[in-house]
Amino acid sequence: MGDVSRRDFLKTVTGAAATAAAALSIIPGARAGETGPLKVGLIGCGGRGVGAARDIMAAGKQLGVGVRVIAVADVFRDRAKGAQDGLNDAGADIKDDHVFFGLDAYKKLIETDVDIVLLATPPGFRPEQFEAAINAKKHVFMEKPVAVDPVGCRKVMAAGQKAKEFGLSVVSGTQRRHSFSYRETIKRIHDGAIGEVVAAYAYWCQGGLWVRDKSPNMSDLEWQLRNWLYFTWLSGDHIVEQHVHNIDIINWVMGTHPVSAFGMGGRQVRTAPRYGHIYDHFAVEFEYPNGARMLSMCRQIDGCDGRVSEFVVGTRGRSNCNGWIRGEKEWRYEGPKPNPYVQEMVHLLESIVKGEPINEAQNIAESTMTAIMGRESAYTGRTVRWSDMMKSDMSLMPKELSFDKPLPVPPVPMPGRPM
Ligand SMILES: NC(=O)c1ccc[n+]([C@@H]2O[C@H](COP(=O)([O-])OP(=O)(O)OC[C@H]3O[C@@H](n4cnc5c(N)ncnc54)[C@H](O)[C@@H]3O)[C@@H](O)[C@H]2O)c1
Repeated sequence: MGDVSRRDFLKTVTGAAATAAAALSIIPGARAGETGPLKVGLIGCGGRGVGAARDIMAAGKQLGVGVRVIAVADVFRDRAKGAQDGLNDAGADIKDDHVFFGLDAYKKLIETDVDIVLLATPPGFRPEQFEAAINAKKHVFMEKPVAVDPVGCRKVMAAGQKAKEFGLSVVSGTQRRHSFSYRETIKRIHDGAIGEVVAAYAYWCQGGLWVRDKSPNMSDLEWQLRNWLYFTWLSGDHIVEQHVHNIDIINWVMGTHPVSAFGMGGRQVRTAPRYGHIYDHFAVEFEYPNGARMLSMCRQIDGCDGRVSEFVVGTRGRSNCNGWIRGEKEWRYEGPKPNPYVQEMVHLLESIVKGEPINEAQNIAESTMTAIMGRESAYTGRTVRWSDMMKSDMSLMPKELSFDKPLPVPPVPMPGRPM
């Protein structure tokens, strides 16, 4: 790094943070920050994408690291323009020629000189967009889950490996991994506070989510994209789209992924066509290599009791993984609890400016694959093994994405009946 570019980089690091940065001997990672603020582009301008762009700006302010959101991309023009306006009001600098829309908008954004790409489209698109971002040598923040099928998970694993070779940072939107109370609790579990973990429980049970009806002038593709939660090729079903958070915690505690899944589920209440073809509840037992079992339950049905949490039982105690341990000694987390959505961006930015890449691609790809394994067990009524998933050629992306042609909704999966 030349003197001029180093000066420029340091211009972006102000005040107390500059002193702290100097003390840490920050060496910026490949390309990032060499010529001024870190430039950020957002792909997928919905609620979470715009939130993630705001969070990375907040993290930059917190660290005193220059961050400028300069580009947005979305399949729909209204979404991209809305994000441009909202983010510019919040301090971004997105010019009109950096607002991209269409199915190939992500490619145009990746071709710009952004240093960091935020991926927040429906997860069916994540593998190809992540691969493209890594091939273009961008640091990546990608929302969970990172795929909807085994082929996609393996693509993310391979691109994550490539990111390691390129020295790029990859953070995924499993924000619990960045929450101080989860980190401190799970560190203690790993240090033996409850002995060997022999049973685990993971839950995401809540009411229904938003649904967008098809208007008369909407093509099938537009409706499915705008109503993406309800189509497995886009969301992976809710066990993958939402419950992956809790499954990921148990994989983190266990230090590995399960070897098999035995599950069931169905569509009891959300049966109308507006809900596509996904299930509204699942219950799956996963088995880990040491024989420990995880019971996982997820439900999106109004009027039922809610539960979103994790719980593990060890040979010498138990814990909620997030703030308390009852073992030989009782322990409670009493430290700070910063917003984990900002904290994940703090960790991403720190890793880039220090030149110490973090790479969460493999972990989130494994947790995504775990959830897919559970879904497939429920859909088929059969035990599904990790080894089956790693060999499976299941790819749910439709052969052709066209706004002018019909895109039929697949049938609701029926266990015990071959599809
Ligand atoms: N970590 C969390 O707590 C959390 C919370 C909410 C959502 N999420 C995840 O974030 C992602 C986005 O969810 P959301 O709630 O923002 O959904 P959303 O529907 O609000 O936004 C998705 C956006 O992606 C756009 N899009 C769809 N296909 C595209 C394509 N091929 N190329 C470019 N843009 C495309 C849509 O038009 C839309 O604007 C999902 O993976 C979801 O699971 C994570």
